[in-house]
Amino acid sequence: MPIIAIDGPAAAGKGTLSKRIAAEYGLHHLDTGLTYRATAKALLDAGLPLDDEAVAAEMALKVDLAGLDRSVLAVHEIGEAASKIAVMTPVRKALVEAQRRFAAKQPGTVLDGRDIGTVVCPGADVKLYVIASPEVRAKRRYDEIIASGKDADYAQVLADVRLRDERDMGRADSPLKPADDAHLIDTSNLSIEEAFQAAKTMIDKVLK
Ligand code: C5P
Repeated sequence: MPIIAIDGPAAAGKGTLSKRIAAEYGLHHLDTGLTYRATAKALLDAGLPLDDEAVAAEMALKVDLAGLDRSVLAVHEIGEAASKIAVMTPVRKALVEAQRRFAAKQPGTVLDGRDIGTVVCPGADVKLYVIASPEVRAKRRYDEIIASGKDADYAQVLADVRLRDERDMGRADSPLKPADDAHLIDTSNLSIEEAFQAAKTMIDKVLK
């Protein structure tokens, strides 16, 4: 019953890669960023503050993993709010517990996020750490926004990417970092297909 952990910063290509891997190996997939986003959205919708740990943790306990929808949760403000509440230990505790229950599902799972290989599933069979330069990640985000018909400023998107990195890597509880036994995939100069093939080679070595 394999568990595949995929971590890395925002817009490095984890999401696309994780979905491809889950489909290839017939595994369940959880984008754990959505659990933080769903908690943040619930707080915003209820007009509750983003700086009250007890209130945020209570919301985190109510998140339903079956109802997570990236198309609703993708907006920038929700991502920002998510990274703010993600520094709170009681929030992380509640969400990590739900993520671990998901990880135990048969016939195996792929989880992607920031702390899967280090905290949520330290015993995962395969750990991938997906990175790309901040400039490449900002360009991908920028292109996505333009493609969706909205307006964007590349310099602002790059500043946002750097700010998110700083918050995710700098927090005390479960900072974003590669597990000691993670395989690094730098997607800066890779197509989606090339990144997938690199991941598949690493996974096949372990699973076969
Ligand atoms: O990956 P995504 O951008 O959807 O994640 C939103 C925020 O949730 C991240 O910036 C991060 O602060 C937080 N997060 C986390 N741990 C995870 C997944 C996401 O702290 N495993």
